Amino acid sequence: MEGLARRLLHIPPRLLASLPPETAHDLAIRLIPLAPRGRQAERPGLETTIAGIDLAHPLGLAAGFDKDARAALGLLRLGFAFVEVGTVTIRPQAGNPRPRLFRLAADRAIINRMGFNNAGIEAMAGRLQGRPHTGITGVNIGINKDSTDPARDYGIAAARLLPLADYLTINVSSPNTPGLRDLQEERALAGVLDAVLEARRNAGPAKPVFLKVAPDLDDRSADAITETAMARGIDGIIATNTTIARPPGLRSPARAEKGGLSGRPLMAPSTRLLQRMARRAAGRLAFIGVGGIASGADAYEKVLNGASAVQLYTAFVYEGPAIIDRILDELEACLARDGHADLASAIGTGL
Ligand SMILES: Cc1cc2nc3c(=O)[nH]c(=O)nc-3n(C[C@H](O)[C@H](O)[C@H](O)COP(=O)(O)O)c2cc1C
Repeated sequence: MEGLARRLLHIPPRLLASLPPETAHDLAIRLIPLAPRGRQAERPGLETTIAGIDLAHPLGLAAGFDKDARAALGLLRLGFAFVEVGTVTIRPQAGNPRPRLFRLAADRAIINRMGFNNAGIEAMAGRLQGRPHTGITGVNIGINKDSTDPARDYGIAAARLLPLADYLTINVSSPNTPGLRDLQEERALAGVLDAVLEARRNAGPAKPVFLKVAPDLDDRSADAITETAMARGIDGIIATNTTIARPPGLRSPARAEKGGLSGRPLMAPSTRLLQRMARRAAGRLAFIGVGGIASGADAYEKVLNGASAVQLYTAFVYEGPAIIDRILDELEACLARDGHADLASAIGTGL
């Protein structure tokens, strides 16, 4: 069985690219649990710590790939240092009508308007409960599109899932749930953060809580969010989610589709926001950099701009599991070139 899976998993970038995007994704989620273990080489010098969580190296899988934690163990086995499952909402939800996922291959980008399709917090709790702890798994929570009390709903999701997660991410930044990003406004945000942190106080051993932000924030909002996160006691920020902007130069026909854009065109704007927030936080928050990473040089740029760890999604879809070792090899080369003894000594040196 493993041989078959290995062969299948060698094909995906090409095979999967010939299928409709969502069919390919569902197939990948089914195949990944059968995947062989990735290279287990030690990565001395790439160890990192994020809000107290020790990671073997800084590269994780971003939220949205494994929304219901169906493949998390397999994804960890491929070699990701951590996997963020979700976004999950308190009640199951079908998401937007299809098609809602578009490849922009010429731009190495994706547009999605999935709309938090997920099986709900109880289904996720069932999957996470009692499974072996073989690696770091974060849980990303959102709200149903018909939520009437976002703060309460985030609190409920946090209370249910924090005990089963290594960390929790509050997602107020997906562009596909109407009104969600308004929760980044100062007063609304404070209410959501307080509800989640209250749930954490009652949920046993304290686990880190991150806030995931949109790249489409003006400077004033970015500063206000950073300050609010610090004032309320959030551990870190994940910068960033997908963008509603359409940078000039996109070539793919699907560029006009509505939704969040990810991948290469997101690298620069996303890193700019990371840099601004990390400067403002001046060491008082942990940062996970995500948005447009497709090489070790991209990951390195996020690290220089304050990220203690990074995540990716879109480039993994285009390149498959081999991207993990490629990025780590290239990252090691970047560190050596610039005379950094290890990853830790490079974090934030570009700020
Ligand atoms: C198809 C798709 C679905 C996504 N779903 C979620 C989600 O449910 N929750 C979330 O916080 N981010 C979600 N994201 C955003 C990613 O986690 C990531 O922040 C973004 O894609 C930028 O990284 P990338 O350029 O490496 O893809 C999704 C991205 C894609 C492409």
